[in-house]
Amino acid sequence: MKTRITELFGIQHPIIQGGMHYVGFAELAAAVSNAGGLGIITGLTQKTPELLAREIARCRALTDKPFGVNLTFLPIVNAPDYPGYIRAIVEGGVKIVETAGNNPQKWMPLLHEHGIKVIHKCTSVCHALKAESIGCDAISVDGFECGGHPGEDDVPNFILLPRAAEELKIPFVASGGMADGRSLVAALALGADGINMGTRFIATQEAPVHENVKQAIVAASELDTRLVMRPLRNTERVLNNAAVERLLAKEKELGSAISFQDIIQEVAGVYPRIMEKGEMDAGAFSCGMVAGLIRDVPTVQALIDRTMAEAQDLIRQRLAGLLA
Ligand SMILES: Cc1cc2nc3c(=O)[nH]c(=O)nc-3n(C[C@H](O)[C@H](O)[C@H](O)COP(=O)(O)O)c2cc1C
Repeated sequence: MKTRITELFGIQHPIIQGGMHYVGFAELAAAVSNAGGLGIITGLTQKTPELLAREIARCRALTDKPFGVNLTFLPIVNAPDYPGYIRAIVEGGVKIVETAGNNPQKWMPLLHEHGIKVIHKCTSVCHALKAESIGCDAISVDGFECGGHPGEDDVPNFILLPRAAEELKIPFVASGGMADGRSLVAALALGADGINMGTRFIATQEAPVHENVKQAIVAASELDTRLVMRPLRNTERVLNNAAVERLLAKEKELGSAISFQDIIQEVAGVYPRIMEKGEMDAGAFSCGMVAGLIRDVPTVQALIDRTMAEAQDLIRQRLAGLLA
């Protein structure tokens, strides 16, 4: 399948694996790229630029296909060494960066100077238009369904994607709630040029996370996610568990007086315990409503192959058949 996204990134299928904290390691990124999609290493999961350089080299040894690095710009005072991370990306010969969290304007000249294409993740049309105006090459439009940070506007993809299609000139992918060929065809129909999947890629053989995490996603329904940190305007969609229920009880009790310190136990430093050790109640971790559509743990190759086969069948048979 050829779309503006496959052309832009030089990939076979219009399927991207979004950056995911403590999930987006070289193994997963390389598996997605080898299967014809675009794999993405999560930059900040690597604690230093040197470690990111090593992870990029590891990925390069596992695939000769294009892959990217996610750079999440965090709203915190002591910012990570972003220039150092960008140096690791440039020196590692990576040509695609997925930015998220904040406007990447400050870093655009440096990235473009080195021939790096930037896909910026946005949860609103307004931010997507801003990203287009500062020279981003593509947008990942993240609807309200998404795992991770859906923003504060709560616009689901059935509205957000056609709105993005009305306004944007640059290519964009649909992110949030994407699981299979049906998602891909729907996203294309709504004006997107491909899909970005997060949660779906966690439940794959190659995702380097504890088996408990994969099984928790398979077991979850579309009713099992919760929105946390809403009062802090840092909303995150997470899988419900004991820590999330505790966190939500604190939010209810403290109301607008709540601060990050009040919930630090439930959100800070919990990813390694969950993703590496499989301690499923250790804290809040991102998960999309799409968990309700995830029922197995296939290889990445099988997942991408069946997504493409299902999309083609849908277009050729079901959709074309409706016109006959
Ligand atoms: C466990 C997990 C961790 C994530 N970490 C990040 C991250 O560090 N940076 C980022 O930009 N997005 C992150 N995301 C968001 C994904 O890249 C993607 O946008 C989102 O999962 C899409 O929604 P879906 O889960 O419904 O497919 C994360 C998502 C999950 C599920």
